[in-house]
Amino acid sequence: MADSRRRLLNLLAPAPVHGNRSSLTCRFKCGDACFHEVPNTSENEYLGDIIDSVISRRGLMKVGVVAAGAAAVAGSGAAAFVNAPKAAALDTTGSLPGLGWTPIAPARTDAVEVPAGFAQDIVIRWGDPILAGAPEFDPYNQTAAKQAGQFGYNCDYLGFFPLDKQHEVMVVNHEYTDEVIMFPGYDAVNPTRAQVEIAWAAHGLSVVVVKKNQGNGKLKPVVGHRLNRRYTATTPFEVTGPVRGSDYLKTSADATGHRVLGTLNNCAGGDTPWGTVLSGEENFNQYFANGAAVQGGLPQQAISRYGIPTGASERKWERFDDRFDLSREPNEVLRQGWVVEIDPFDPTSTPKKRSMLGRTKHEAGTSVIAKDGRAVVYSGDDERFDYLYKFVSTKKVQPGGAKANADLLDTGTLYVARFTGDSPAPEIDGKGTLPSDGAFDGTGEWIPLCTDTESFVDGFTVEEVLVFTRLAADKVGATKMDRPEDVETNPVNGKVYMALTNNTQRGTAGKAGVDEANPRTANKHGHVMEMSEAGQDPAATTFGWNILLLCGDPNDPSTYFAGADRSKISPISCPDNVTFDEHGNLWISTDGNQLGAHDGLYAVPLAGEHRGEVRQFLSVPTGAETCGPWVTEERVNICVQHPGETNGSTFEDPSSHWPDGGDSLPRPSVVTIWRQGKSAANQRGPKAPAGPRVQRIPDPKA
Ligand code: FEO
Ligand code: CA
Ligand code: CA
Repeated sequence: MADSRRRLLNLLAPAPVHGNRSSLTCRFKCGDACFHEVPNTSENEYLGDIIDSVISRRGLMKVGVVAAGAAAVAGSGAAAFVNAPKAAALDTTGSLPGLGWTPIAPARTDAVEVPAGFAQDIVIRWGDPILAGAPEFDPYNQTAAKQAGQFGYNCDYLGFFPLDKQHEVMVVNHEYTDEVIMFPGYDAVNPTRAQVEIAWAAHGLSVVVVKKNQGNGKLKPVVGHRLNRRYTATTPFEVTGPVRGSDYLKTSADATGHRVLGTLNNCAGGDTPWGTVLSGEENFNQYFANGAAVQGGLPQQAISRYGIPTGASERKWERFDDRFDLSREPNEVLRQGWVVEIDPFDPTSTPKKRSMLGRTKHEAGTSVIAKDGRAVVYSGDDERFDYLYKFVSTKKVQPGGAKANADLLDTGTLYVARFTGDSPAPEIDGKGTLPSDGAFDGTGEWIPLCTDTESFVDGFTVEEVLVFTRLAADKVGATKMDRPEDVETNPVNGKVYMALTNNTQRGTAGKAGVDEANPRTANKHGHVMEMSEAGQDPAATTFGWNILLLCGDPNDPSTYFAGADRSKISPISCPDNVTFDEHGNLWISTDGNQLGAHDGLYAVPLAGEHRGEVRQFLSVPTGAETCGPWVTEERVNICVQHPGETNGSTFEDPSSHWPDGGDSLPRPSVVTIWRQGKSAANQRGPKAPAGPRVQRIPDPKA
């Protein structure tokens, strides 16, 4: 854009900053959550390491023991996992299947840095047209109507579904908006209706068919394809499950409690074995205002427990629509904070809010099929000292896709996790020192909160458990975790991996202390947990766990990388999203690197002699976060979220000009990366074309 059109105008008041995270990230991503009191002030004090309760289960539950039987389970009961394991995946010969590239060094460039031998391209940027008739992006002449037909802002979850040999359906979440770098002359004190309505249209999800370029990893959007769709903050959603029609969900505009406008702060998500997408409504609290007006009972308790602003909101949406003003519509906030389900193959379908999965700050919803064919969905509640949840359906997954499983997630049981360490509490010193048994590990229980017809929490009805899930979970002894983010099942080894981003208040004055599952005081760099459901069955009610990684600079003695040689480790900080390649390697994207370099994407072998060797695959531009990693043999895809989101960055003077360079505006975008050269299939690493990633549905007769 022309310099003459820039106005050096920064109307932002100085804002606090959390670590290396920019003040813009804190304001717009999660409503300055880190500067508010931790919402979980419940008496739910973790009871420490209860050794005797562990001993009885020890040996049955330990991850290593379960792992020993994994191959047998995978061979006979592969239906338990989303993808059938490949024979060569658990390579123990010392090679690095899938990881035959040289890790990059930590970077601070305004670019996506990838290893030598890889190429990259932009798939789609904020504002690029999706729907028929949508115009090309012009930030000086943007309208809500234009934005509603264009790719939204701050892409997060990213998933692909095969359509035919040449096309895939791409689904992307748009978590939030950065008004100061989206709009010329943005006045945070007095946003305009036009700006607010554009922001509503820039939230939600995009469904875009992409055409594959044979011979490389390029993907080009097919503008106007019949499957393309935008979901926004005003799209009608249907509430399903036990809370449908509840008085808690009724508003002036919806006396039925069935129909909600919009989805907000869609962070991570997951593709389901039945061909839909689950998307987590995460920091929904920040969009609502005047929580102080809500008086009495659980709704009032939930104002502080969910961190809802007592006065004005950051974006001032309450000035333009009463539903964001709790003094006028006190129930509207109860209609956000759900896992939503969309059908990417039916552009006329009504998207669903699945109330049986509970209401929290859902990072994501990732699904896997239990041994008996039922659906299991994991979801982390991303807040310091909050919990990990799991839903197990009553019904079995049926062949026939979304239509055949339209009410699968509406009946079942919702659980919350309790982690119990197996080492004496005094051995957990807060410094990352391994306890005398050589591992941060132990057992866990899935504590039932409710089914669709029965509550297991004293004083809570089923609908209250599901609407006020945090308050219900406080009552049953759930373990306060260091920000549970993405939780996902490894299709090769069947274990479950959870990213715990960080928690600088762990063990500080007045806050919950360290425990074996959250063993570092003031946990700045986060950790990664490896879990094994009992009997390798995702529907189990007990599990084993161990900490795989304590992140940070490998030279920092408080770090741990599954015992790997520290000289081989890429520094890693603030793990957020996880995924797996077809060899079973764990891939981790980061959000908020506290080591002075940009965020990135990292791969970690989980089997063999290289287990734990974190290898950095890419680095993202200035101010950006890496999201939505999608790794196949063919290519690696990521979302670059919030480029240019650094302190003082504005539309007029942004700190990033990625991806278009020059003096252009930064634009959140989807990136595709592939290995160059025709011999790719013979190299180790993301390489030759792969089969579809859609997870197979087990044969009910098997
Ligand atoms: Fe939107 Fe928990 O990251
Ligand atoms: Ca231990
Ligand atoms: Ca995230």
